[in-house]
Amino acid sequence: THIKLNTQHVAPFMSEHEYEEVRPLIAMADQELRQGTGVGAEYSDWLTLPSDYDRAEFKKIQEAAKKIQSDSKILVVIGIGGSYLGAKMAYEFLHPSFNNELAADQQAGVKVYFAGNSLSSTYLTDLIRVIADQDFSVNVISKSGTTTEPSVAFRIFKQLLEKKYGTEGAKKRIYATTDASRGALYEESQEAGYETFVIPNGIGGRFSVLTAVGLLPIAASGGDIEQLMAGAKAAQDDYSQPNLDDNDAYRYAAIRRTLYDKGFTTELLITWEPSMRYLAEWWKQLMGESEGKNHKGIYPSSANFSTDLHSLGQYIQDGRRDLFETVIRLDNPQADLDLPKMADNRDGLQYLEDMTVNDINVTAANGVALAHVDGGVPNIAVHIPKQDAYTLGYMIYFFELAVAISGYSFAINPFNQPGVEDYKKAMFALLGKPGYEAETKAYRARLDQ
Ligand code: PA5
Repeated sequence: THIKLNTQHVAPFMSEHEYEEVRPLIAMADQELRQGTGVGAEYSDWLTLPSDYDRAEFKKIQEAAKKIQSDSKILVVIGIGGSYLGAKMAYEFLHPSFNNELAADQQAGVKVYFAGNSLSSTYLTDLIRVIADQDFSVNVISKSGTTTEPSVAFRIFKQLLEKKYGTEGAKKRIYATTDASRGALYEESQEAGYETFVIPNGIGGRFSVLTAVGLLPIAASGGDIEQLMAGAKAAQDDYSQPNLDDNDAYRYAAIRRTLYDKGFTTELLITWEPSMRYLAEWWKQLMGESEGKNHKGIYPSSANFSTDLHSLGQYIQDGRRDLFETVIRLDNPQADLDLPKMADNRDGLQYLEDMTVNDINVTAANGVALAHVDGGVPNIAVHIPKQDAYTLGYMIYFFELAVAISGYSFAINPFNQPGVEDYKKAMFALLGKPGYEAETKAYRARLDQ
């Protein structure tokens, strides 16, 4: 296996007996998921995606990525939520920290900028300035095709493409990733003749990074999508055992579930690399949208260390004791640096001169784990060997499987998101969207009071 779970720092908070007690819950969740008897089973196709994905579509993605690389310097990826976070996570995880600022010959593919993930007019204006006169293409991603944020951004970048390349030229630079047969974006794509990619029906937004949703932007940026899928496939094989002791994804789910029952209701995903911040953002959506239902579920939060030790660190060490940490531990960094040797010791760092910067990072992580355990914060370590596409694919599958199992152990539907729809309803009503007339009156009256 390519992920190693170290539960040494959970042991003080969880007895063997408790581990035995959660076993039947996990076994039941396994059956619901694997036999398709659980609620929401129609959205569990991600479970076999790494072995069953559509090879023809995959080839089409690779070809489109090549075309984008041949005629564009920039790909603007438009989407939000599940149609955004997977690609953003992978872009940051797989490429150098300052990829968009590097010279073209140092980049693996095109630069990627993301839009449609907020309603900020300033952000859009600034991005248009960055593009300036550079050649670009657009990948608009929306399953429903009616989400406000990406629809607004798409209008703006479509107009920009049309001004620059004419209506026909623009069409050849627009790639639409959407439902196979319905929705506004699907209809428009059919009419205009954009190249389209499919978001399969049986896979919800937050589980969709290994479909065209994530794969096209990742491939265009020069990420190795074959390795990504190979890693996910290895995880699919490794985590097919229902027995807790042989399945780290299940063991992780079991530990989280037990900790929750003991009052540890907030989980922090801790990363020690700035390039993994969006891994945490993706993970928060996956966990929060899957589990936060029927007034239950672990609240997912995150921190990036050592940066946040100088802000959130105080609370984690000493605030309310309802937190536990899941720490991504990278065993081999992308790059390392020797600490420069100095003739004097004015900065007091001479005692570190035999260490690399990464050695210091690793030692800090060890120390923080001990301090936090002493402060009453259980700490699960998830060791990954490398920061590459294979490992990312493996880790994606690990977390997807873990949350499905833990979701069923909470007796909720891990695959829907009714709460997200509630905010959309209120916003559409206030904006005066046709079809929402009754709600428009009611919501506006409430604001006027
Ligand atoms: O998980 C979800 O369903 C959401 O985060 C959606 O992915 C998000 O709202 C975007 O939806 P769509 O792809 O339909 O534009």
